Amino acid sequence: MTTTKSDELMAAYPALDDLTSFGARVLEWFEREGRHDLPWQYHQHSSADIYAVWLSEIMLQQTQVATVLGYYERFLQRFGTVEALASADWQEIAPYWAGLGYYARARNLHAGAKQVVAFIHQNHRFPQTVDEWQAIKGVGRSTAGAIVAMGVRGFGVICDGNVKRVLARHRGITDDITKSATDAKLWTLATALTPRDHSGKYAQAMMDLGATICTRTKPKCERCPVSKDCIAYKNGSQHLLPIKKKAAPKPHRHSGVIRVHHQGRDLWIHRQNGGGIWDGLWCLPLLPLASDAKSGLDAQAFKEAVMTAWQTDDGEDLMMAGFTELLPLMTTPTASLRHTLTHFHWHLYLLTWVVDEASAQNINQMLDAIGVEYQWHTGADLAKPVAMTKLVTDAKSLPA
Ligand code: ADE
Repeated sequence: MTTTKSDELMAAYPALDDLTSFGARVLEWFEREGRHDLPWQYHQHSSADIYAVWLSEIMLQQTQVATVLGYYERFLQRFGTVEALASADWQEIAPYWAGLGYYARARNLHAGAKQVVAFIHQNHRFPQTVDEWQAIKGVGRSTAGAIVAMGVRGFGVICDGNVKRVLARHRGITDDITKSATDAKLWTLATALTPRDHSGKYAQAMMDLGATICTRTKPKCERCPVSKDCIAYKNGSQHLLPIKKKAAPKPHRHSGVIRVHHQGRDLWIHRQNGGGIWDGLWCLPLLPLASDAKSGLDAQAFKEAVMTAWQTDDGEDLMMAGFTELLPLMTTPTASLRHTLTHFHWHLYLLTWVVDEASAQNINQMLDAIGVEYQWHTGADLAKPVAMTKLVTDAKSLPA
């Protein structure tokens, strides 16, 4: 006897009486109550722009719609086609992502644009299948499904964190969703539930359902189109699902951020750190501090970390840059900030150093000698990381 997808599904999880009505109810709800005014939504346009859908999906990873809107418009205005993006220098692209966070996404998007242009060159068309899209840097299985469903208008399945939450609650799935076996089952379920002819609208509908109704905390079940056969709703266990093994805690890093101030301006360095954090943006000079401290450095620990940094390679560039005079001043940060990135917590300490004309000239000479791109600037309108803005604007006012 052959087993079908639905058989597998029924064996895997408590039965869903009616696979087709789930999708129909979700779609009907979307027409009535979903978001229809987002600029990347394909059903707003007579022809789909695959590149724009791809861009929007990358920007929307880990980032809320309200934050993405402005970035999306500015990015598309500057890089209107995949060819324009592929041929741009990273230094031109970086400012358009500054503040959006998860910087590696932009790096991958840029690398991916080059891959897509090469693909078009060879095949005279955009990538169109889920497999073709998954071969593009930064595009995982769910993003590939979203691009195919909403951009290409083919059949694509999404199963991102939001969808997993909806499905885990609806089917009362109590397995750990971070386990690959659970992931595989959820994908089978997501695939079986996706209507063949409306996968684009269904993808958007599920995202909206996860974002506005089946929210992580305080879900609005009384407004949910699929609550009548939702197992978690019936059991009152919505707040317990999905079950997710806790991620390992992120390590902590510490850095001094040196605000060299002269006559109303600060010294800004254009970072070119080969793909590292904030590459291509204007930053105050950074001094990595070795320390194991988790919640921040007290005065003594801070002093020791600074001393260690000066004695190791980390301090070398700054030493060369004529910052030696700074050493005695380096023990009292004027502001600090904890900035959480994908892989670590970063504690930044603002060290303010008001320099006279002679020191400023000395610094200029040293920076010229080592070929660092820099400028003295108020910081307004510079393409810089949000963390820098927070540190500088939150700092106490400086003497003239
Ligand atoms: N999150 C990921 N993709 C999205 C989309 N297309 N619309 C709204 N939120 C999303």
